[in-house]
Amino acid sequence: MGRGLGGAVSASNANEPRMNHERPAPHTGRYAMHKYWSKKPHNLVAHDIQRFSGVGDIVLDAFCGSGVTIIESVRLRRRAIGIDINPVAVLMTRMGLQHTDLRALDTALETLRSAVAGPIAQHYRTVCPRCGHPQATVTHTIWNAHQPIELWVACDACRTRKWVKTPSEQDRAAALAPGSGAIAWYPTCELIPNSRVGVKPGDRVCDLFTPRALAGLSLLLQAIRRIEDPTIRSAMEFCFSATLPQASKMVFVIRQRGKMRHAGDSQPAPAPGQAEVGSWVMGYWVPAEHFEVHVWRCFEHRFRRMLRGKEEINRIIPTSAHPCESFEALSRGEAGYLVGVGTATNLPLPDEAVDYVFTDPPHGNRVPYLELSLMWNAWLGFESDWEQEVVISDARSRGKHMVDYQRRLVAAFQEYWRVLKPEKYLSVVFHSLDDATWLLMLNTLRTVGFALVALRPLDYSNGSVAQDTRRHALKTDMVITCQKPTTPTENHWPVVFHCSQEDLEALVRECLSRLNGTAATSDVVNAVLIQGISTGMMFKISHIVAMLERLGTFHQGHWYHPDGR
Ligand SMILES: C[S@@+](CC[C@H](N)C(=O)[O-])C[C@H]1O[C@@H](n2cnc3c(N)ncnc32)[C@H](O)[C@@H]1O
Ligand SMILES: [Zn+2]
Repeated sequence: MGRGLGGAVSASNANEPRMNHERPAPHTGRYAMHKYWSKKPHNLVAHDIQRFSGVGDIVLDAFCGSGVTIIESVRLRRRAIGIDINPVAVLMTRMGLQHTDLRALDTALETLRSAVAGPIAQHYRTVCPRCGHPQATVTHTIWNAHQPIELWVACDACRTRKWVKTPSEQDRAAALAPGSGAIAWYPTCELIPNSRVGVKPGDRVCDLFTPRALAGLSLLLQAIRRIEDPTIRSAMEFCFSATLPQASKMVFVIRQRGKMRHAGDSQPAPAPGQAEVGSWVMGYWVPAEHFEVHVWRCFEHRFRRMLRGKEEINRIIPTSAHPCESFEALSRGEAGYLVGVGTATNLPLPDEAVDYVFTDPPHGNRVPYLELSLMWNAWLGFESDWEQEVVISDARSRGKHMVDYQRRLVAAFQEYWRVLKPEKYLSVVFHSLDDATWLLMLNTLRTVGFALVALRPLDYSNGSVAQDTRRHALKTDMVITCQKPTTPTENHWPVVFHCSQEDLEALVRECLSRLNGTAATSDVVNAVLIQGISTGMMFKISHIVAMLERLGTFHQGHWYHPDGR
């Protein structure tokens, strides 16, 4: 098994994907079922898996997140091991692999519908503003400063899907205090105070939802828990979890100014700044003006999305790939996967067991995953091992500082080294425009004993938070690929920053004239880094940017060679 790569991999042919202009694929189908932060573009991850491992090989990602490495590995007929400290991330990974009987899923939806859709709908009844029917449905409520100010109404009687209404006294009462209907369990635990993600001391998970949403969600979860088939139950729990952000008060209102009515529209004139539904981004901010979406409709919407993902999974995940309970079971078979909650710093694997590692560790303080996932984990009843998380967090109570992060990151890469077979490869996704974490990452790899073989940019899939038109926008992650030498050598690849301004100037000039007018800051920085490292020179990103500003001309998002425009 496996595929010898010999000396074929070098920093120069590491540029190939870029040269082929392989674009990052969007997160659709199997990757659109549940939100997670910094999901990696599956086609580019698949590219590395194919390049650095063979069919039947064992691929490991011990920071697997939503499971892109694992799902792509199994799709490509590798065996895969996925570990993450975050229980909901492990659920996502499992869900991206597991074959599911779609008819049984549909049947379960109908069972849930007959159990809870009616009681939930009671909370959203209103009089149709168009035909006067008393049993119309409030699909969306816009709240402002704790008061319902606008309702969107659907009515079967007059076949209206959306009619905007100002709430009556009765509507206000229903929204503010949703009656005495049954309310089952919901999570009241506190979030971790952290101003960076919008949490104040004392804020609780349940405070993220209106009383009406809490009532509906708690009934729904209770009914899901009664599903007997464990595969279908956990798919429905997963769908429930995916519903939570859009069922919360964190859904902001997008006001589109100047949107015109079309002739013949049967809608009343939109209020100034017609509203559109936003979606949860990152952090626990509840905007003063926010939506409340009908819980059952929200769940059904997510269900349809899950169904599309599951159809795809049934099609592309080989039927021979089964979940394994232990490494021994995985290593005995020719196909399969081992997925579970754990810490990358202490892997439940023997030495030299793995053929390839593709991994994407938390990038410093960018995303406090466990804190942000508490909303999901609390509802699902999952406990987290906060202590073990590799992260830098502003939450004072956590003591997650740079030193703790550094120590755990080194421990994780020592584990990767231990479990990787000699001569095999490890690819790490890392952020490119931050000198301190760059050095830390490179030095971690060096300390552990890895040898750099390739470096290339990994584009983001979509217009993510990091993408904008500022000249220093962080558009790119880098993939650093290393090899585990057969014998540990003293003479590791030395990570020292090169300071010669002349060398840097020559490199930047060369890259500028090659990329003239086609490259954003991150493209030029990547080109200089790759070019530099292939000839043994590593420059600080801030120095590259400074040189770029001195030598180049920036116009409409692109850099020009001063003589080339
Ligand atoms: C950058 S994300 C990975 C995202 C993933 N590449 C994807 O496409 O979804 C980093 C992950 O590391 C996890 N993590 C943090 N500390 C960990 C630890 N000690 N052991 C395992 N996983 C950990 C976080 O929960 C998070 O899911
Ligand atoms: Zn009507």
